[in-house]
Amino acid sequence: MSNEQRSFHVAVVGATGAVGETMLAILAERDFPVGTLTLLASERSAGGEIEFNGQKVIVQDLASFDPAGVDIALFSAGGGVSREYAPKFAAAGAVVIDNSSAFRYDDDVPLVVSEVNPEQVAKRPRGIIANPNCSTMQMLVALAPLHRRYGIERINVATYQSVSGGGRSALEELGRQTGQLLGFQEIEPQRFPVQIAFNLIPHIDDFLDNGFTKEEMKLVWETQKILGDDSILVNPTAVRVPVFYGHSEAVTIETREKVTVEAARELLAQSPGVEVVDRREAGGYPTPVTHASGTDAVYVGRIREDLSHPRGLNLWIVSDNIRKGAALNAVQLAELVAAETR
Ligand code: A2P
Repeated sequence: MSNEQRSFHVAVVGATGAVGETMLAILAERDFPVGTLTLLASERSAGGEIEFNGQKVIVQDLASFDPAGVDIALFSAGGGVSREYAPKFAAAGAVVIDNSSAFRYDDDVPLVVSEVNPEQVAKRPRGIIANPNCSTMQMLVALAPLHRRYGIERINVATYQSVSGGGRSALEELGRQTGQLLGFQEIEPQRFPVQIAFNLIPHIDDFLDNGFTKEEMKLVWETQKILGDDSILVNPTAVRVPVFYGHSEAVTIETREKVTVEAARELLAQSPGVEVVDRREAGGYPTPVTHASGTDAVYVGRIREDLSHPRGLNLWIVSDNIRKGAALNAVQLAELVAAETR
């Protein structure tokens, strides 16, 4: 047997986007064994160059690309693109890791957080593995260990989601509006339904018949699927906030067995992917800017027992939505796939 590590033909679909760009950075940072790298985007970006590991790679048009020979395809170009092209890549022999919501709720597509249910990666009859939504991702990195030890019955969560979750155009809109308003100019919302700078918007993704938004229901559906437990109740509110990078979540859990603050801190401190930042003093808690932005961990602070429930616990969970919430987990899933062949 050769000691040489196998390398892979990796395709990044949506390479010019906010998540795609971070996927490339993380593949390089983690020294993923990339043999050939193919960068794909829409026709308008084709021909452009992106640097990877010091080398310039030309962006190609997805529509005219032949996926034969691709080993692992990381998709982050929206649900429509995934629905059309992911099955074609899978049929050509690639393992697709899809960041959109196109396949997340299909029974024959595993939905995987690398620290929570990595064993599911291997169960992919369609050759597609789904990457969870950013809000669910960070919440479950922190809550799964508590669920396993104490049994979570109910989760109340309010999210404070940064604009980068809406892609490059959303980042640009927050920057533009902030500049315009500070310059006493009129603003015109384009990417968001109302002004996002200096404002909060309790509306992410489409409204559904039950009055919740799709972003909120993702927290319900994905939590139950990833933890493999349909009995867990989730009551979500999702809010867009004028932060560039990093989602925050105010979470209250109700558990079958009581969890004390000390026990929660101790368990979380030894849980993979989690960092506890919980000093009861000014700045002794995680925020998107001071902790999450540009880093890999899921940060947990403000751990308190619920005053209104004998088995309730409050937590404040913060993480970089583009990294752990999307690109990092996708690369971690690719690492699990790559490890199968070693
Ligand atoms: P492009 O830059 O050519 O539009 P974001 O979420 O930051 O907006 O990024 C979306 C990513 O998905 C971009 O890389 C974008 O490429 C890509 N994309 C969007 N629509 C398509 C499409 N129809 N075919 C291929 N790539 C697409």
